[in-house]
Amino acid sequence: MIDLNFKYKDLINFFKDNSPFKPELAIILGSGLGEFAESVNTKKTFLTSSLPGYPSSTIEGHAGKIHFSEYDGKKLLLFQGRIHLYEGYKIYECILPVFIAYKTGCKKILITNAAGSVNLNFHPGDLMLINSFNGINIKKELTNLIGLAGVEEKNRILDFPSSSFNKKIIVAALQEKIELKEGVYWYSKGPSYETPAEIKMTRLCGGDAAGMSSVHEAVFSSYLGMETSAISCITNYGAGISNAKLSHSDVTETANLVREKFERLVKRIISSV
Ligand code: HPA
Repeated sequence: MIDLNFKYKDLINFFKDNSPFKPELAIILGSGLGEFAESVNTKKTFLTSSLPGYPSSTIEGHAGKIHFSEYDGKKLLLFQGRIHLYEGYKIYECILPVFIAYKTGCKKILITNAAGSVNLNFHPGDLMLINSFNGINIKKELTNLIGLAGVEEKNRILDFPSSSFNKKIIVAALQEKIELKEGVYWYSKGPSYETPAEIKMTRLCGGDAAGMSSVHEAVFSSYLGMETSAISCITNYGAGISNAKLSHSDVTETANLVREKFERLVKRIISSV
């Protein structure tokens, strides 16, 4: 196991010296969802490329910015862009946003992502509250990350995702009259999208949406004791469900189409936590 406090000493000191305030809620904005950051009152923005020891993003749609922002009196830490295993980074690099959120004082984290549909009732443009994660494809990496958890850590991870945070999200969606699907997010390593056979297997095994992020972030944040919830934006039909070929630009285009709905939901969630 890597000692993150030692490895990221300079980065943590940087935030100690430069944060404008102590944030309470962190939000990781997924592919194409980063523009949410422009809709709130931002006090200070850091380019991740200017941060000591921060890995650089290699993907379009991932701006690589960290914002200290406010909305409705709540202090927020927004991550515009994330770090993926399929970019070749190590798991202890991928969870850096979560580690920064923890170190700057966030008690809660909302993880968002773009995902392909697996459940046949889900369609591009739907939002799905994650009620469980399937990380079977990265079990070894997750163990490398948190070690063999002791009783205390295991108990912390029992409420995963946070049932009280999820309830607040369901109420927020009702208040905004936004239909919120619920389901299981299935991690696949990528970097390519799944094959039709893989999507079919995922469905048979209980998956509702497929994506290449979030599970390790969510495991790590609950391990650290942060209340953790996550929402997927269904950006495309999973492979084989429709005849369309999948591409990253379709993912960002659909995410753009749901921007207004996503923004309303996330703002209502912020107000309610
Ligand atoms: N599969 C995996 N990851 C994704 C997809 C998908 O279909 N869409 C957006 N991220």
